[in-house]
Amino acid sequence: MDITNEAAVEALFDDAVATFGRLDVYFTIAGISPVGTAVTTSYEDYKKVVALDMDSVFLGSKYCIPHMIKTGGGVILNLVGTYGIRPTPNKLSYSAAKAGALSITRSVAIDFARDNIRCNAICPGFVNTPLNNGFEGEARQRFLNTYQPAPFEIQAKDIAETALFLASDEARAITGQAIVVDGGTEASLYLNYKRPSADK
Ligand SMILES: NC(=O)c1ccc[n+]([C@@H]2O[C@H](COP(=O)([O-])OP(=O)(O)OC[C@H]3O[C@@H](n4cnc5c(N)ncnc54)[C@H](O)[C@@H]3O)[C@@H](O)[C@H]2O)c1
Repeated sequence: MDITNEAAVEALFDDAVATFGRLDVYFTIAGISPVGTAVTTSYEDYKKVVALDMDSVFLGSKYCIPHMIKTGGGVILNLVGTYGIRPTPNKLSYSAAKAGALSITRSVAIDFARDNIRCNAICPGFVNTPLNNGFEGEARQRFLNTYQPAPFEIQAKDIAETALFLASDEARAITGQAIVVDGGTEASLYLNYKRPSADK
């Protein structure tokens, strides 16, 4: 399905509940991540990114929440990313859409906490997925060495494990948060990370 299509999103939840009887967890994941500044991004492309990376988060919440309320609550997760916390150069539309998605996450969390619905954003740094195909070999290694303190590539499984925890009852007090899963990148004040051993 296309998660930017309002009718398709509404039908997804109706189908899921008709099939399984209830809806406990919904995770909005799909996104695109094009480059561009305020000048080089066309308005048409900007709107496409906002539709997929932000509006889909609104549509998902809009149509899953009524089903969750009927069965006593649920968990909503949104794949945002550290660009939703602060942008990096040449990523205007992506950063704007993800910042909006994070704000929607917080609004949903506070509006529906009393309905036993929790809503959190997962904010990965660089993850080894097809999104980053074409960015391989030496260039990828140089990027990781420069920006990410943890000495390994973050995998989709690391994000899935975080989602499983956030969806579980063990995370019952966590809502309205941006959970950063980035190997320490966001914790560093300066972009150009230097390993302490390399500084000596
Ligand atoms: N990979 C990273 O380094 C990274 C970092 C931070 C955040 N993210 C975010 O994580 C999410 C997942 O990214 P990924 O790395 O798995 O990307 P990916 O390109 O590997 O997968 C994205 C998926 O979204 C699907 N998709 C695209 N448009 C869609 C639409 N309109 N409706 C339904 N599905 C659609 C694609 O078919 C694809 O399967 C995205 O929101 C991305 O912005 C990724």
